[in-house]
Amino acid sequence: MIDVQNLCKDYTFKRKEPGIRGAVKSLFTNKRELIHAVRDLSFHIDAGEIVGFIGPNGAGKSTTIKMMSGILTPTKGSVLIGGEDITRHRKEVVRNIGVVFGQRSQLNWDLRLGESFELLKHIYRIKQSDYEETLDVMDSILGIKEIIDKPVRQMSLGQRVKGDLVASMLHSPSVLFLDEPTIGLDVSSKYALRKFIKEINEVRKTTVILTTHDLGDIQELCERIIIINHGVMMEDGNLSQIIDRIAPFKTLVVEYYDEIAPDHPSCEMIEHDGNIAKYKFMKNDTTAADLIAELSKLRPIRDVSIEEAGIDDIIRIAYGE
Ligand SMILES: Nc1ncnc2c1ncn2[C@@H]1O[C@H](COP(=O)(O)OP(=O)(O)O)[C@@H](O)[C@H]1O
Ligand SMILES: [Mg+2]
Repeated sequence: MIDVQNLCKDYTFKRKEPGIRGAVKSLFTNKRELIHAVRDLSFHIDAGEIVGFIGPNGAGKSTTIKMMSGILTPTKGSVLIGGEDITRHRKEVVRNIGVVFGQRSQLNWDLRLGESFELLKHIYRIKQSDYEETLDVMDSILGIKEIIDKPVRQMSLGQRVKGDLVASMLHSPSVLFLDEPTIGLDVSSKYALRKFIKEINEVRKTTVILTTHDLGDIQELCERIIIINHGVMMEDGNLSQIIDRIAPFKTLVVEYYDEIAPDHPSCEMIEHDGNIAKYKFMKNDTTAADLIAELSKLRPIRDVSIEEAGIDDIIRIAYGE
């Protein structure tokens, strides 16, 4: 469905020195600096996948999404959507994709939500019956009809994002790009958004590419993740396999009866506070059951729990923190 090949984006910009002198100086110099925001990304996404696109701030996620959705032209490389090059056949390809930016709305602030939808209906020449059907589906997922007569200007962030999601689906795109859609949302709007992504993926087979800082979004929605940092691909693959490979450990939390916590050769004590000690152990070396048995021979144990490595460990390791 999506083929990204050797995608690169450079930005040039003038760096301003601080103060008035700096501003004046920058008027007379043409010194431009170059940023390689995206460097040689290649990947393939199949129809029907939900892919989590993650990386720290400034990694190049939004730049990549903008190139994949035809908003920015790549410096080098290509993006094919459904076999068509987005730069060469922009108009046709754009009909097949939807984009939502969490921080920026495509809705008109001066219109009621429904009026914005009607406008899009005309722009995309959507059949009335298709339009109504989509609205019904969206209403069942997001309860959109409750707010359809509300002016966009008066909407809460959660309502506005719901409006943007519906707007992006009106022309029934087969690919949906979501750039930080959950940013700043309250818990119930976030939940509605996750439900929306699951449903359009299941019912309409929409392919979804999602950037987010919310690890819960990823865990709940994405089997596959792509991690980028400094514009470079760090990881691309199945989420649980990546966790197993990058973070092949678990943490055993032991509560003793007193403050003396014994060491053990097959694990590393990473924390010890009062009666509680945390041990990190490699899944291949030993099991939690063995460790508990052996530690309990050294000191009496009152309680235990096990913490699995999760996506947050992956992020820390992959980001090099
Ligand atoms: N219009 C622009 N002009 C110059 N530099 C930009 C522009 N947009 C983004 N950048 C820079 O490109 C890099 C990647 O930005 P971005 O794609 O927004 O990252 P992310 O979405 O992962 O936070 C950053 O260093 C950012 O400062
Ligand atoms: Mg971004």
